[in-house]
Amino acid sequence: MTEDVKIAVVGSGYVGLVAAVCFAEMGHDVICVDNDERKVAALQGGDSLIHENFLPELLGKYRNTKVRFMTDLAEATRECEAIFIAVGTPQSEAGDADLSYVEAVACEIARSLTSYKVIVEKSTVPVYTNEWVTRSMERNGVARHLFDVVSNPEFLREGTAVCDFLHPDRIVVGADSDRAAEVLQRIYRPLTSGAYYTRANAIEGVCNESEPPELLMTSTKSAEIIKHASNAFLALKISFINAVSNLCEATNANVEQVARGMGLDTRIGPRFLRPGIGYGGSCFPKDVAAFRSVAEQLGIDFNLLTEVEKINSQQKKRFLNKVRSALWTLRGKRIGVLGLAFKGETDDIRESPAIEVVEMLLAEGCSVTAYDPAAMKRTEEVLPASRSLRYVSDAYAAAEDADALLILTDWAEFASLDLGQLNKTLRYPIIIDGRNMYDPPTMVKHGFTYLSIGRPAAYPVRDLSPALSAHS
Ligand code: UGA
Repeated sequence: MTEDVKIAVVGSGYVGLVAAVCFAEMGHDVICVDNDERKVAALQGGDSLIHENFLPELLGKYRNTKVRFMTDLAEATRECEAIFIAVGTPQSEAGDADLSYVEAVACEIARSLTSYKVIVEKSTVPVYTNEWVTRSMERNGVARHLFDVVSNPEFLREGTAVCDFLHPDRIVVGADSDRAAEVLQRIYRPLTSGAYYTRANAIEGVCNESEPPELLMTSTKSAEIIKHASNAFLALKISFINAVSNLCEATNANVEQVARGMGLDTRIGPRFLRPGIGYGGSCFPKDVAAFRSVAEQLGIDFNLLTEVEKINSQQKKRFLNKVRSALWTLRGKRIGVLGLAFKGETDDIRESPAIEVVEMLLAEGCSVTAYDPAAMKRTEEVLPASRSLRYVSDAYAAAEDADALLILTDWAEFASLDLGQLNKTLRYPIIIDGRNMYDPPTMVKHGFTYLSIGRPAAYPVRDLSPALSAHS
């Protein structure tokens, strides 16, 4: 039996598109289906649509050969053995996940299904979605022996999506039938056997031939819960360190030292303990709300998640107060802003805490000059340039004549700015860093008043800092 699988991926967002090109990179033949004709045309023409490392290269390599883009789900269903559903599951008004796109895809697959298919949930979905997809298929007249529904959650991060997909910490497959489990094992075998990593042109990452990723087989329900629980736990870790950072600020301790001290305990681990202005993006806010909602519907008290959300939302307001504490009043102040994306190395602005901070500054009567290496075009669509909001083409232009410069996104390039030039460019050398990108003593040496998260404020000697004025 050939190891290659004909795969359809429905949805060409971050997860769908990355999965499609990575499956091709693993040797499979892929059809990526999207009902947005413009998107399909753009992808066929070689536009990768999203800012993601290695994506342009893989698209260039496989576009219109091992990965075909089309709008016709019926054709894709007929041709393929496994159909991955990777459409959006946005947050509904009530906070739970809106599964109408998943349902619509399931019904459409049902209408064109004539031989056995494995339907794979790749989108993040609440527990029981699997049962609903199964029920939808049956209601649309598909005999039970003609399909299985499997849950295969995706754990990739934006910005490192391709690498995360090909070098995963784990692959989770929730399957309640051996036949479906075998198809998924076959799909991932190039990774789990280590064979992919021996290829001369393989994309490099943490996995290798002797340490390939593990494929964990679970029930479908467990797999669905693993995804929500993992994202909620990571969000909890971030809110936890943010709450600790507030405690550090109140006691003049240093959260970076505290996080390091905690993270060296292998049971805790150092990752996702970076304090900041709160988590954002298309996943954590939505998934924490959806998981909370699932618990509520099942009558389970999971108020811990409500606290995670509360801390996250307070963190942005605390940051605004920090800006106010440095500038005394905000109305009429000129603020330079570095970063609009929800995190560094992506152009995604969904639920971006940086944009929320910009909106709060504008509401306070500040004028903002903003720069982001990749997310300005998208931001301009939701926050058009105006008399009080300008977009500029580099960090120094954002700083020009500003009363203070704010760092809101952890782009790597913001960690290596020319501090001498920045000091000369700003009207007042004040930097308020929501991502702890600099070391306070270095900033003081360069003459900055430097406020960051969970660390003592740092003032140059000549500045009239609150600490000095209080004692004078
Ligand atoms: C997240 C998860 O990390 C992925 O494992 C998951 O697959 C994905 O959601 C998803 O469900 O699709 P992503 O949203 O791309 O990935 O971004 P992260 O790197 O996790 O960052 C999320 C937010 O948390 C960002 O705003 C980031 O700045 C913030 N963050 C992250 C912190 O404030 N501190 C940290 O220590 C880490």
